[in-house]
Amino acid sequence: MQLNKSQLEDFDHDGFLFFANLFDNKEIEILLSEVERLAKINANSIVREGDEQTPKILLQVHETDSATASEAFRQLACSPRTLGLARQVLRDDALYLHHSKINMKAAIEGSTWPWHQDFMSWKLDGIARPDMVTVLVMLHEATPMNGCLYFVPGTHRLNRLDPHYDTSTAYRFWAADTATMREVMAKHADPVAITGHAGSAVVFHCNLLHASGHNLSPVDRWHAFLSFNTVANRPQKVDNPRPEYVRSTNWTPLILGADQPIVESVAPA
Ligand code: SIN
Ligand code: MN
Repeated sequence: MQLNKSQLEDFDHDGFLFFANLFDNKEIEILLSEVERLAKINANSIVREGDEQTPKILLQVHETDSATASEAFRQLACSPRTLGLARQVLRDDALYLHHSKINMKAAIEGSTWPWHQDFMSWKLDGIARPDMVTVLVMLHEATPMNGCLYFVPGTHRLNRLDPHYDTSTAYRFWAADTATMREVMAKHADPVAITGHAGSAVVFHCNLLHASGHNLSPVDRWHAFLSFNTVANRPQKVDNPRPEYVRSTNWTPLILGADQPIVESVAPA
């Protein structure tokens, strides 16, 4: 999948590029059934929330030897439609995944993600430059009602803002404070709702401000996130590094797969 000059210019200007129906129904069915299998695993790489301890985040799904390893998600991560896309917008072919995750924003219970730039956390992982992007693949339709993401276009050009540590949800992380967001939003275009059918995808820059609301609907909203870094920009040593499932030290460049559909695969024993 070759991006043209105007798509690359749009990415550089807005900080994201959207692709409707990039994956077909059969591929999405395979990935959905993988998420159902993975959600039953008991592992530290699964973050849960609420009284029912509903899974919120399944991490490290792209590796071959992690507790939550999935061959189908590995194929997704090496596809020309994900890795190939990331290579083009980062203008670098030697990429690895800083992490992969499925955010399972469950019907009714699934909670918000406050405004943040991903690089707020990733710089503290020891990564020097914002040469990172995420490819998000919608496994369900995303709507404002079920907690789709919102992007503030062009905010990746602000570079990294000073973060504060947000403890309002089951996943504690570095986010933007209210005063910063009021100021930034007064000066930028309105946020864009990232809605689409299952199988749609969006690639976005690690300094783009984004957030999502609570899932008020009776249907789940599952999204896969593949966060690519350049091997040249791999993290430096830090004190008390976060766990391997969020801060990968597997810096072997990913090998680009053939441009073929995600196929059903046998789950690891
Ligand atoms: C994220 O920004 O990492 C997750 C947002 C979401 O799943 O809504
Ligand atoms: Mn994020």
